[in-house]
Amino acid sequence: MAKPKVLVTRRWPEAVEQQLGELFDARLNAEDRPMSAVELQEALQSADGLLCTVTDKITAEILSVEPKRVKILGNFGVGFDNIDCEAAKRHGLVVTNTPEVLTECTADIAMTLLLMVARRTGEGERHLRNGEWTGWRPTHMLGAKISGKTLGIIGMGRIAKAIAKRAHHGFGMKIIYYDPYLSSHEEAKAVGGEPRDSLEDVLREADFVSLHCPATAETRHLINSQRLKLMKPSAFLINTSRGNVVDEAALAAALKEGVIAGAGLDVYEHEPEASKNLIEIENVVLLPHLGSASKETREAMGFRVLENVKAFFEGKEPPDRVA
Ligand code: DGY
Repeated sequence: MAKPKVLVTRRWPEAVEQQLGELFDARLNAEDRPMSAVELQEALQSADGLLCTVTDKITAEILSVEPKRVKILGNFGVGFDNIDCEAAKRHGLVVTNTPEVLTECTADIAMTLLLMVARRTGEGERHLRNGEWTGWRPTHMLGAKISGKTLGIIGMGRIAKAIAKRAHHGFGMKIIYYDPYLSSHEEAKAVGGEPRDSLEDVLREADFVSLHCPATAETRHLINSQRLKLMKPSAFLINTSRGNVVDEAALAAALKEGVIAGAGLDVYEHEPEASKNLIEIENVVLLPHLGSASKETREAMGFRVLENVKAFFEGKEPPDRVA
């Protein structure tokens, strides 16, 4: 029997691409160039499976192309807000994602941002590389102490619990959180988490606020100018979720005006750019969407996509079906 035809929109780790070739009639993207809307539509018309990722905006309009050959969208990533799942469902397509395998690495990056912004390490490195360091002195580049401080978490899913564990057990931080969708608080409690009744309560009380909610219509600009003003002037905002959970222009203004002390960001409203405003600000650490970027994790993500797509073409229910 002929192998299912799949199209992979970006380059994947070598070990995964090799297995892709064994399992499927795979068309790879050796140049690793983001695909245009027209190319994505061509893929929907010519392949049985489209293996896409965060940089592919699979909109209702793109999905409206007819006739379609595609039956499954295997997303390389736990977040799948790049796909209009309602439209995919209307067209009878299955959508899968890659949960769990990137939890630890993404929590590591959230903790990295927290440490970097509090202890001014990005600034310090720029200072040294620019030849501006004149030597040790008691008042040089004083940052904020982390141990004993309060970490406020918005959205208490897997990644949130993993950063809570690091912050509580490793750094002696108090953990508070808000998650209106959490059905059981037991796991959060095991990592030191204390629930709060509202997002606003967390913003007022925390020294660090870390965002771990998915990008939905409800969470768009969840952190806006008004809510930033609820935070302590000494507090820091960390975002490893999705850029549009934060109103980036409002954040840039809040950082410039000293409404909050700093921010650590891995995601942006208009990737691959961080707004020009942010780039000019010293008290913000900016990473290029590195949350899951370890060799081990990216391979595991790729293999997880393969597991799902293989199950689908064998007539089984894909383990990580989201639509
Ligand atoms: C994810 O898996 O959601 C990462 O942010 C990459 O898309």
